[in-house]
Amino acid sequence: MVKMVLHSRIFSYHVVSFLLLISCGMNYGTDTDIFCLQSIKDALEDPNNYLKFSWDFNNKTEGFICRFIGVECWHPDENRVLNLKLSNMGLKGQFPRAIQNCSSLTGLDLSINKLSGTIPGDISTLVPFVTSLDLSSNEFSGAIPVTLSNCTFLNSLRLDQNRLTGQIPLQFGILPRLKTFSVSNNLLTGQVPSFNSSVSVNYANNQGLCGGNGLGSCQAKNSKSNMAVIAGAAAGGVTLAALGLAVGMLFFVRRVSVKKKEEDPEGNKWARSLKGTKQIKVSMFEKSISKMKLIDLMKATNNFSNTNIIGSGRTGTVYKAVLGDGTTLMVKRLQESQYTEKEFMSEMGTLGTVKHRNLVPLLGFCMAKKERLLVYKNMSNGNLHDQLHPADGVSTLDWTTRLKIAIGAAKGLAWLHHSCNPRIIHRNISSKCILLDAEFEPKISDFGLARLMNPIDTHLSTFVNGEFGDLGYVAPEYTRTLVATPKGDVYSFGTVLLELVTGERPTNVAKAPETFKGNLVEWITELTNKGKLHDAIDESLVSKDVESELFQFLKIACNCVLPTPKERPTMFEVYQFLRAIGARYNFTTDDEILVPTDNGDADNMEELIVARE
Ligand SMILES: *[C@@H]1O[C@H](CO)[C@@H](O)[C@H](O)[C@H]1NC(C)=O
Ligand SMILES: *[C@@H]1O[C@H](CO)[C@@H](O)[C@H](O)[C@H]1NC(C)=O
Ligand SMILES: *[C@@H]1O[C@H](CO)[C@@H](O)[C@H](O)[C@H]1NC(C)=O
Ligand SMILES: *[C@@H]1O[C@H](CO)[C@@H](O)[C@H](O)[C@H]1NC(C)=O
Repeated sequence: MVKMVLHSRIFSYHVVSFLLLISCGMNYGTDTDIFCLQSIKDALEDPNNYLKFSWDFNNKTEGFICRFIGVECWHPDENRVLNLKLSNMGLKGQFPRAIQNCSSLTGLDLSINKLSGTIPGDISTLVPFVTSLDLSSNEFSGAIPVTLSNCTFLNSLRLDQNRLTGQIPLQFGILPRLKTFSVSNNLLTGQVPSFNSSVSVNYANNQGLCGGNGLGSCQAKNSKSNMAVIAGAAAGGVTLAALGLAVGMLFFVRRVSVKKKEEDPEGNKWARSLKGTKQIKVSMFEKSISKMKLIDLMKATNNFSNTNIIGSGRTGTVYKAVLGDGTTLMVKRLQESQYTEKEFMSEMGTLGTVKHRNLVPLLGFCMAKKERLLVYKNMSNGNLHDQLHPADGVSTLDWTTRLKIAIGAAKGLAWLHHSCNPRIIHRNISSKCILLDAEFEPKISDFGLARLMNPIDTHLSTFVNGEFGDLGYVAPEYTRTLVATPKGDVYSFGTVLLELVTGERPTNVAKAPETFKGNLVEWITELTNKGKLHDAIDESLVSKDVESELFQFLKIACNCVLPTPKERPTMFEVYQFLRAIGARYNFTTDDEILVPTDNGDADNMEELIVARE
């Protein structure tokens, strides 16, 4: 084994002042997203004062922008905008270019406002990761920029009810994820792109589109439209008046049908709407738990009150539930899923049997109207993310606990990959989905749910909507291949290991120089290249007798986040390596044997073992 010498480091002035800063509540969020919203607010005319009062930039606590009207963040405590929904606010002005500073944005809805001018020609560089773009019912004019076809994550593109002219760029036909394309009620002309039949298109009420479904062929249309111009000249007055009326009506109907958001301070309107279904039974996998009905869950969560929310992520919102007898559970309200009841039941039947010491036990589930609720055992120490990056700045997790968490979590994930039947790729591994019980035994949550969110990909494990997982954890190949793999999970898990050993967040590296703009993995790569990897280790963990453990641990983490998937170890190997580091602590008693059954990875494993000698 290579002998690692770790430089003992005395806390420099730098480190001390850094620690002081965090204990005073330093803002970790990205200033650029704050700048983004501030600039948008400044640039738009807001006659109804929606933004004026809600978008208050005076008190900059972490996650403060996430409570602004129309703003959805990746995480409620991080100033990083996921979606911006400013529909029907009477906003005036040009397309807000400052949106480019909300650099993690995936959804933009500016519909039903009075925005005018052209859609910027470089829009693809302003919102490169957008999956849903809605500019409908505004006063945009000019051509549709061809560069929009560079927004390859686009799923839904709505440009209807504007004054757009010219052709629809034919390049839109190759947008790989497009499902909805609507340009009705504009002044567009010419040939429409040839979309895959699975794309839902709306071309209604344009001046002269041709070549698509329900439209004339382009040749015939040309001569016809010449005729129409002549005929139109005669009957012009009447037709125009009628058209004007029709368009006017359309606007009117649209406006009435879009209701203003109702005030709902508790945020549980959806739960109150379940009134009639309270007697629905909660199906339980564990016989030990007494029978429950939906009404019991509602009571236990204060009718799913916002104050009971203990977490939220892309698969749904988690509520703390306290039953009459004092038992605590977690109830997850799944994000809208397109699964039918039958498919959902069958999926639950599978997930209910997936049991392992290092997975959060799914106790039961419940379906009421469109809602899908999952009942889990409560984990009293919350999630690893909050333990590592607490609001007051200093984590109390010592090295032994961190190592124990890493080994247990690796074991759980290795079990999902190699031993569970069917095997499960998690796809959303982050420190937020590793929960900790009273003894800090780690339990992975959310396994099996990514698939549930997305019925299209039952077999292929493809991603939709550009939703690969939390930023900072996403394997680099995913943006190219769009297919989830076990090695993608290994990458995400490697990022968690880096978080454990460096104490840093996956996206914002506090210890890096101010000029450094990358994420945690990029920082580690840079340190490796400079031969300064040991600088990455969290100083608070360093002591003489664990130096070599820390460095071995860091090396394993680095292998997991290698850019080439083939070079990364399997989860089985990661677990074995970590277990070897922790051998002297005797963490676990039940060591069920994991047998790696991936033939393709067997060679890979030998290489790794050789490299370690
Ligand atoms: C906003 O984005 C522009 C273009 O990417 C960049 O030059 C500028 O530095 C950003 N501003 C902030 C405050 O991040
Ligand atoms: C800032 O906001 C936080 C949370 O909303 C609040 O607790 C704190 O008192 C506010 N600080 C100031 C100076 O207004
Ligand atoms: C759009 O993508 C093409 C091909 O990748 C590239 O050549 C072009 O410069 C891009 N355009 C913009 C505006 O980003
Ligand atoms: C069109 O959609 C079908 C599924 O609806 C898919 O199998 C096919 O590959 C798509 N074709 C193209 C060219 O994207």
